[in-house]
Amino acid sequence: MRAVRIAMVGTGRMARAHSQAYLTAARFFDLPVRPHLKVVCGRSVERAEPLAQAFEWEEAAGDWRQVVGRDDVDLVDVVAPTALHCDVVRAAAEAGKAVVCEKPLAVDGAQALRALDAVTRARVPSAVIFNYRYVPAVRLAHDLLHEGRLGDVRHFSARFLQDWLSDPARPMSWRLRRSEGGGVLLDLGVHLVDLVRHLIGEIDAVAASSRGFVSQREDPTGVVHGVDVEDAAAALLEVGGGATGTLQVSRLAAGNRCASGFEITGSRGAVRWDFQSMNDLDVYLPDESPLLEGWRRVSVTRPGAHPWAQAWWGGGHPIGFEETFVHELAAFLRRLAGETDEVPAVEDGVRAQLVLDGIQTAARERRWVSVGRP
Ligand SMILES: NC(=O)c1ccc[n+]([C@@H]2O[C@H](COP(=O)([O-])OP(=O)(O)OC[C@H]3O[C@@H](n4cnc5c(N)ncnc54)[C@H](O)[C@@H]3O)[C@@H](O)[C@H]2O)c1
Repeated sequence: MRAVRIAMVGTGRMARAHSQAYLTAARFFDLPVRPHLKVVCGRSVERAEPLAQAFEWEEAAGDWRQVVGRDDVDLVDVVAPTALHCDVVRAAAEAGKAVVCEKPLAVDGAQALRALDAVTRARVPSAVIFNYRYVPAVRLAHDLLHEGRLGDVRHFSARFLQDWLSDPARPMSWRLRRSEGGGVLLDLGVHLVDLVRHLIGEIDAVAASSRGFVSQREDPTGVVHGVDVEDAAAALLEVGGGATGTLQVSRLAAGNRCASGFEITGSRGAVRWDFQSMNDLDVYLPDESPLLEGWRRVSVTRPGAHPWAQAWWGGGHPIGFEETFVHELAAFLRRLAGETDEVPAVEDGVRAQLVLDGIQTAARERRWVSVGRP
């Protein structure tokens, strides 16, 4: 079986998620290619070494520029802080490598378009990690919507609320610097924007409000820095085809460790999903006996019926966040072998980024903004 030799850039939390996902994908899915964990690259070899050992990477490296063009690498996986994404994606594409990039693709639309340009010119396959598309319950919602079972979508609400920055003593990091791709919109909002595009359709226009609540934070050495990103935002979205909806994001939403979800209402039914019960989808289809009409909760775990369930543990046995990466990376490995799995690509990353640019502009200028197209 052909090996796909992978170079990974980044050694943090997502590096662990992707390393594990490649190993699990090969063990639980019948893949036409074999992922080979060739080299993992950090800011230094020493920083990459522990990850290399934990996940059986063949090598550790300390300079991504020395790695992405290597002859013994087929795929470059970018899990570094967001400000690095565009440069690594472009260098990898120019070297003819397939590219996987964590969300968001870049720090803004202009940079994302430069990444798209490189990938398009090089004609290399690409994936952006929009892993919430790969939650089985979200896929079921997608299928019900796209089969027309819920009718025409009329309205929706989506939220992604966390509270890890509620404490003003939480230290400064790249996630709080605009130039480095920080801010809640790029961090969490991008997932919701992608889900709206995936489930409902392209977003044409936005209006928004955003706020910062903690204006300064200390870095781990005690130096105080100004915070120039939004802590929370709310947006109104108009989707082509007629749907209207809202999006709310915050990393200072006390009591919400990681509360994401959506409700989508069509002319014939509705769906509702909550990440904290991620294996379930609430479905409302009123065309039944009036005696029994109402919401039903579907456990999206039934082998043979539900997406990906066949690969796991059996009906009613939950899977988790980790498996979303397994599903997406397995799909991308299949695509590399010429199979037709649909995977969000760099173009999807650009489209999400242009919506986020629109939201930032709308909030700053306090007006409706039409969303650009790549
Ligand atoms: N899809 C998701 O659910 C999800 C969740 C969290 C983060 N992310 C995204 O994944 C990316 C990484 O996030 P993370 O949580 O792993 O961040 P992190 O801060 O935990 O890890 C980033 C890593 O990159 C390393 N790094 C910094 N500069 C580097 C360089 N020049 N070369 C190589 N490595 C370098 C850092 O040392 C660190 O280990 C971000 O873009 C983030 O938005 C996605």
